[in-house]
Amino acid sequence: MKNIVILVSGGGTNLQRIIDSIDKGEIPNAKISLVVADRECYGLVRAENHHIPHLLIKRGKDFCENLEKILPKDTDLIVCAGFLSIITQEFVTKHKGKIINIHPSLLPKFGGKGMWGMNVHNAVINAKETESGATVHFVTAGIDEGEIILQGKVSVVETDTPETLAEKIHQVEYDIFPKAIAMILKEGI
Ligand code: GRF
Repeated sequence: MKNIVILVSGGGTNLQRIIDSIDKGEIPNAKISLVVADRECYGLVRAENHHIPHLLIKRGKDFCENLEKILPKDTDLIVCAGFLSIITQEFVTKHKGKIINIHPSLLPKFGGKGMWGMNVHNAVINAKETESGATVHFVTAGIDEGEIILQGKVSVVETDTPETLAEKIHQVEYDIFPKAIAMILKEGI
C-alpha cells in the first residue's frame, strides 16, 4: 500500500477527485494518509467528510519545517493539489522526486512567480492563445519548473472568459491528475 500526503489551500475539487479515484480503484493500492492545509479551506472539510486525517499548518516561512516534523515516515508521494505556499529548497532536496503539483496551464507557458489561479487564465486570454490546459509535474526548487509528467489540452475560443477557461481546465485536471498519480506510484519513485 502506497501512502499519499496531499497539500491543499482551496476548494479541493482535485483532492475530491483523488479520493474518488482511490475508492474506485483507478489509483490502485494507495491511501491518503494525511491532508495538510496551509490555511482554513474547504479541502479540510472534504478530508473530514471522508475520515481522512487532516491538519492545518499555518502558512509562513516555517511551513515546510513544520510539515517535515509531522510528515509520516512511510510517505511515498506528496501531492500539491491547489496548494499555494512555496516549498523550500531544503524540503524539495530531502524529498526529491516524491513531490508533484498540478498547474492550470501548458507549462512551460504561463508558469512561474505570480502565475496562479485566475492570473494564469487572464494571461492566456490576453495573449490570445488558442489552446491551454493543465500540467502535472515534479516539484523542484524553481517555481513550476520540474519535469513534466502529464499534460492535457483544451482549446481557447473567443467567447472564453477566465472563468469558463478555468472550468474547462478543471475538467482536464480531473482526468490527468489521478492518471499521473497512478502512473508514478506504479512505476516507482
Ligand atoms: C487547480 O486549477 C490547480 O491547477 C491549481 O489550483 C486549482 C485548485 O483547484 N494549482 P481545487 O482546489 O482542486 O478545486
